[in-house]
Amino acid sequence: MTTTPLRERASWKALKEHHAEIGGRHLRELFAEDPGRGERMNAEAAGLYLDYSKNRVTGETLGLLADLARESGVEERRDLMFRGERVNTSEGRSVLHVALRMPKGSTLVVEGVDVVAEVHEVLDRMADFARRVRSGEWTGHTGKPIKNIVNIGIGGSDLGPVMAYEALRHYSRRDLTFRYVSNVDSTDIVEATRDLSAEETLFIVSSKTFGTSETLANAHSAREWLIARLGDEEAIARHFVAVSTNAERVASFGIDTANMFGFWDWVGGRYSMDSAIGLSTMVAIGPENFHEMLAGFHEMDEHFRTAPLERNLPVLMGMLAVWYVDFFGTQSIGVMPYEQYLKRFPAYLQQLTMESNGKRVTRDGQVVDYDTGPVYWGEPGTNGQHSFYQLIHQGTHLIPVDLIGFGKSLNPLRDHHDLLMANVFAQAQALAFGKTEQEVLADGTSPEVAPHRVMPGNRPTNVLLAETLTPRLLGVLVALYEHSVFTQGTVWGIDSFDQWGVELGKVLAGQIAPELQSDGEPDLAHDSSTNTLIRRYRGLKNA
Ligand code: F6P
Repeated sequence: MTTTPLRERASWKALKEHHAEIGGRHLRELFAEDPGRGERMNAEAAGLYLDYSKNRVTGETLGLLADLARESGVEERRDLMFRGERVNTSEGRSVLHVALRMPKGSTLVVEGVDVVAEVHEVLDRMADFARRVRSGEWTGHTGKPIKNIVNIGIGGSDLGPVMAYEALRHYSRRDLTFRYVSNVDSTDIVEATRDLSAEETLFIVSSKTFGTSETLANAHSAREWLIARLGDEEAIARHFVAVSTNAERVASFGIDTANMFGFWDWVGGRYSMDSAIGLSTMVAIGPENFHEMLAGFHEMDEHFRTAPLERNLPVLMGMLAVWYVDFFGTQSIGVMPYEQYLKRFPAYLQQLTMESNGKRVTRDGQVVDYDTGPVYWGEPGTNGQHSFYQLIHQGTHLIPVDLIGFGKSLNPLRDHHDLLMANVFAQAQALAFGKTEQEVLADGTSPEVAPHRVMPGNRPTNVLLAETLTPRLLGVLVALYEHSVFTQGTVWGIDSFDQWGVELGKVLAGQIAPELQSDGEPDLAHDSSTNTLIRRYRGLKNA
């Protein structure tokens, strides 16, 4: 695999020259010269269609981007990941979320252990538990069936589960209530529990480490809430289950490890929604649908593993991101699902993309001399159009956008869906081609106002289309972005699987918390700003 620094790779240099030639060209020109590109520049996998023709690329660009992926070792590193090698070098760990969705009966032996067999053992226990909760066989302390499920977790132990629950609400049991508590702000848990009956409430405490302070604070408050209402410590056994890799900490919290669902250190938090962290998802949609979702993930994994780079959806999307970030100076990428059920998908992607690729040193510790992970953000369409799309259309930043749409609505109503999808195609068209001054003037706009109405266009989009949002399709979509992130991180030579940048803040918060609670003049050893803020807070708190 290459150790050549990125800027010295032959394909990088070729792209640099190529960018000087075509970087300024307009999508209007590219379409005029090659009118059939919209019929050709697309790819399809696992029921997902990608139109990438409205990107600022030619056939040559795509060839050079594939060369860069190849020269950067995307295929070799992908194969190392799928084999269970320790590709997360700074933590010395394998990265095997792909094993979480390998079918029952297949094998993947890593360091002497068949990880697929272990995965299915846990999936079977989860399915058994989910069935018991869904059927009412699992009862609370007073003998009543469970009606409310509250997942307590943060980061990957929250964002995946809540996104999947919202995305697949159509398939979920409507007589069960699902809530997700993540923030240490007490408002989160107070609001989530205020109208629930403790007798019918089950808490799933989800934490890979079982050491995350926010989750532990919420879990302790949930325990107090329950005991205050049911008056018996014994109630914990029927109202708390845990999802974690740390049995010792689960036991010392007071949850019987018989009610714990495990996973492994080779599942990163942001790659864990299809592990036991998805227990609440499974209770909501049922084991069969959960397995459908896993099958979708696996289908995209297989596509990523086997399709040629030029037709490989995650590679195409990942390399296009590299193209814009490193050659056009793009700082952010928008992801706009035109599907209300995917309203939490952008929030989920924020962690997946930015905790993975928000890095400034290569795997061997060299500070990079190029840009890495862009900001990913978004909102469902059409809402975003009436808010921030103005900046995407006419602002000074180049923001490539992924637009995600479906052929069928899960809630068809009059002509809503056609109106929704008309907006997807209209936005992609307006962003690409814009409106020239001549066209604006021809509409009768005065010369003074015309500059304000000019739409420069040349804003790139990917359009992703599928038939319907199903559990399977959700798996396909998430795996697509996971592997796109992998592709980008590999080109940049960074470790996409660690997250050391979140640690310092945790340590400092641990030091500051007792200072906020102590009476009298605290021993404040911080900078003058932090000390002053702490004093001010104490004053406000005690006012
Ligand atoms: O602080 C970041 C982080 O470590 C994420 O990577 C992780 O998803 C989240 O915290 C929660 O961690 P845990 O599942 O161990 O509670």
